Formats: sequence, structure tokens, C-alpha cells
Amino acid sequence: MTVLIRPRERDAIVASLRAGVVPRVGQQHVQVGRTAEVRAVVTDITRIADGGASSRFVIGEYGSGKTFFLHLARSIALEKRLVTMHADLSPDRRLHATSGRARALYAELAGSTATRARPDGGALAGVVERFVTKALSEADTTGVDPESMIHTRLETLTESTGGYDFAQVVAQYWRGHDGGDDQLKSDAVRWLRGEFTTRSDARRALGVRTVVDDGSYYDHLKLMSRFVCMAGYDGLLVCLDEMVNLYKLSNAQARAANYEQILRILNDSSQGTAAHLGFLFGGTPDFLLDTRRGLFSYPALASRLAENAFASDRLVDHSGPVLRLGNLSPEDLYVLLTKLRHVYASGDPAAYLVPDEALTGYMQHCATRIGDAYFRTPRETIKGFLDLLALLDQHPDLDWRSVIGGVDLAPEPEPGFGLPAEGTRPTPDRAGTDDELVSFRL
Ligand SMILES: Nc1ncnc2c1ncn2[C@@H]1O[C@H](COP(=O)(O)OP(=O)(O)OP(=O)(O)O)[C@@H](O)[C@H]1O
Ligand SMILES: [Mg+2]
Repeated sequence: MTVLIRPRERDAIVASLRAGVVPRVGQQHVQVGRTAEVRAVVTDITRIADGGASSRFVIGEYGSGKTFFLHLARSIALEKRLVTMHADLSPDRRLHATSGRARALYAELAGSTATRARPDGGALAGVVERFVTKALSEADTTGVDPESMIHTRLETLTESTGGYDFAQVVAQYWRGHDGGDDQLKSDAVRWLRGEFTTRSDARRALGVRTVVDDGSYYDHLKLMSRFVCMAGYDGLLVCLDEMVNLYKLSNAQARAANYEQILRILNDSSQGTAAHLGFLFGGTPDFLLDTRRGLFSYPALASRLAENAFASDRLVDHSGPVLRLGNLSPEDLYVLLTKLRHVYASGDPAAYLVPDEALTGYMQHCATRIGDAYFRTPRETIKGFLDLLALLDQHPDLDWRSVIGGVDLAPEPEPGFGLPAEGTRPTPDRAGTDDELVSFRL
């Protein structure tokens, strides 16, 4: 039976990959390898849904598939009724700062809030609305006064740090909802999104004394993880990509302060002080292993994140906080090309534009043009293949053999580091035994 891929999803996947970025939806249609890693993340998601917490570091070389993996995890989490947030760290978005740069990270995360119904982000207002309508319908069935129902439900939050104002703001949203005051509703959502920068503005608009700021944003994430459960979701997964930006901070004190924040998150997830909350951090081996600037330069983290002493290339331990993404293999890449061909044809084998031998032919072409990187860091290979399909699609009279030679392929550029060539870059282990070409199905 032919299972067709929805046109919107198909177009989104093809457009993203051709632009060299990871698709936000439909990763399962192209995903290869990473079976054990996916399993580990599914375990985390189950733990989060059960009321626990988790933190994982997804470590891989440039272009090896970290972002892809985070997006895949995010899609799985959405399927499992979690709310997700996603942001890249940058010089202006950090885990610890004193000049608004941590609040900026929070605002980015909050804006990216996604649910299954709104996987593209911007779902926070919908989550608050859902909390309110859920509480109101409960009030209705139990005959309790709506306002006291809202307050009772929010009461548990008020015991946590920052929870009092958080609850006040949600209650203001309800007042806006009840009285048809859209401005009040949107102010409440703006506050929750970390978009108020001054206390006086917040006081004027919402009657609260605080705003989400550098010092309080993490407490807000913890509040948010409990709040989303009150709205009917199972927890919150926060994905933080491009963690290498912390490694690149030149100021040692600033780096240490950021690493301390990571330690706090890690401790909270292992000591049970966070509930329904998970973190995935995406970073390069330097970010983790470099003993001068990386996480391993911070002793408390080095001991927490050290590998299982009994683990080896063949015996990978996926229960620790670090998930090392091995490089994709040529076999993985072959499977990937078959999937790209399948997606391009919207899932209809009768519409395939090239036969199997074109896949191997293309791989050979890439091997000579790009070298090993064609399968280890496959961004360019994927782009090129889709370019090839696009040409064949528009010119049905062309033979794939005549086109392959013309596909322009550049080796993947090494991103500028902004650092002198100092730290050695350890190669991650190919994740042991999971060479079998299985892929995860939702
Ligand atoms: N498991 C996978 N299955 C299918 N495609 C993948 C997989 N992993 C990575 N890719 C594809 O490989 C390319 C590179 O992946 P990605 O951008 O995730 O790498 P990265 O490690 O985040 O790179 P960078 O270090 O530049 O941020 C993307 O086109 C992505 O879609
Ligand atoms: Mg990336």
C-alpha cells in the first residue's frame, strides 16, 4: 500500500533541506541511524511525562546531525503530548548573564513554545487559554465559582520561587478572558513570554512587581513545566542548541557562571527538584571535552559528565547524561538517499525520478568531489541530491547520468571559530553496534 506524504509536509522537508537547514516537521520521513540514541530520548520523554526530570547532552562534530536529532526529539515529545521549547545559544542569548542576555534566551524559548497542534511555535497563548477553559469547564461541572476554581488551581504554584506573580499573571489573563479585555490577555502572555523588561511597565499593565529577568528565568521554566501540566499536557522539553557559544565566551568568569547554571539544571534533574521538565543540550565535542574552556574545565561538571569507565566503542552506555552522536556511515547515507527520493515523490514509488543505481552513482560522485565528509557531514550531499531531483523533475527528458556530473558540490565549510587553533578536536566514537539500518517510527 502506498502511504502518501502530505504535500505541506513534503514541501517543508524538501525546502528546508535544500536550504541547508534541518526540517522542523516530518524528520521521521528522512531519519536514518541513531536507534539507540532515539531510544534513550524516548526514555527521557517518558520520565518527564511521569513527573520526573532529565538532562542530556547531544554531542557531535560540526554537521554530524545534532540539530536534526534535537528536532527529531522535539517531534517525538510533541507526539507524546509534551510542550516543547527550542533556542540556539548565541553571544546575546546565554544561560547566565547580567545584562538581559539570559532573559533574551528565555524570550526566545518562550516564543518557540510548541504543541502538537502548533508545532511551529507561538503556542504559549494557546496553552494559557487551554488552562483557563479547562478550569472553567471544571468549575462548571462541579458548581464551583470560576474565579475560586482558577485560584485553587494556581495555588500550588505560589509556593515555588516566582510562583506568586506567575499565578497573578495567569489570573489576570482569566480576568481578560472573562471581561473581554484583549489587551489584558495579551499583556499577560507578553509577561509570561519574558517580553516585559521593566517592573514599572509590568506593574502598570498587570499589577505585579516582578518581570522575568536574567536571575529568574530558570525558575520560570520550572513553573512553566508545572503549568503546562495543569493545562492538560504531560510536561515540558527544552532544547538548547549551539551550546558551543558558551565555550567561545572569552571571559573565564562568564563561562564559569554559565557552566554553573548548567550544573544547577543537572542537579535539579537528578535530585528531583524539577518536575515534568527535560533539557536537551546540543554541542560539539570541544564544548564538552575541552579541559580549558569546555564543560570539562568545570570540575563539578567533569565528574558528572565523565563517561562510564567500563564503556567502550563496542559497549556504548546510553544511560549517562551524554549522548555521543557517531558519524553517519555510507550505508546510512544510502538509506537517506532512498528516503529523500521517496519524500520528493510524495511517498509514491511510481513517481520516483531516479532508479537505485543513480543513488550509488551519486554517492560515488560525492566521494570523489567531497571526500569522506559526504556521509559524515551530509548537509551538502543532501542539498545536491535534492538539486539533482529538482532538475530531473523539471526536465523529464534528461537522463540522470548526464546531470550528476553537473551537480555543483562544495565541501562543507568549517565554520569560523573565532579562536586560535588551539583545542584538539577529538573524534566521536561511531555509536558502536547500531549499524543496522533501522529507523525510528512514530
Ligand atoms: N539521522 C539523520 N537522518 C537523516 N538526516 C540527517 C540525520 N542527521 C543529520 N541529518 C541531516 O544532515 C545535515 C546536517 O545535520 P545537522 O544540521 O543536524 O548537523 P549539526 O550537527 O547540527 O551541524 P552544526 O554543527 O553545523 O550545527 C542536515 O541536512 C540534516 O537534515
Ligand atoms: Mg546544528
